[in-house]
Amino acid sequence: MLSETMQNAFNSQINAEMFSSNLYLSMAAYFESLNLPGFAKWMELQAKEELSHAIKFYKFIDERRGRVWIRGIESPQGEWGSPLEAFEAALKHEQHVTSLIHKLVEMATLEKDIASQIFLQWFVSEQVEEEKHADDVVQRLKMMGGSTNGLLMLDHHLGKREG
Ligand code: FEO
Repeated sequence: MLSETMQNAFNSQINAEMFSSNLYLSMAAYFESLNLPGFAKWMELQAKEELSHAIKFYKFIDERRGRVWIRGIESPQGEWGSPLEAFEAALKHEQHVTSLIHKLVEMATLEKDIASQIFLQWFVSEQVEEEKHADDVVQRLKMMGGSTNGLLMLDHHLGKREG
């Protein structure tokens, strides 16, 4: 059985993951507006991945005989100054999500909730990957320094993302 403290915290995390999904779908729409279909596809897949994170929390709460509450999601930003600015915002957002996951681990440790600690380990590792993937694109965009050819090549590369 999940404690009320953990249940509330996991419900908040469902909301945070759903916000992430909407943020990345909003970024996908921004990239579509720039005629960068590869960037857009990358963000669309990222949005789907975030929804799958929300579902993982949903399932875990349910398995532990807790109660899921789906709440309203804040509107995401819709416009950025450049692809670099959008990916810098994505990286900053992932760093924020990492801090949320780490707080959940601390809470599960204080609560002596071993099942939650083990469940959260997957997210700790996932956040390392998520930050790296966003940072890789930030670094490439910085290296290109505004070259249109570079941007189109990166668009082609990002469009190859499968899942
Ligand atoms: Fe679900 Fe990108 O963190």
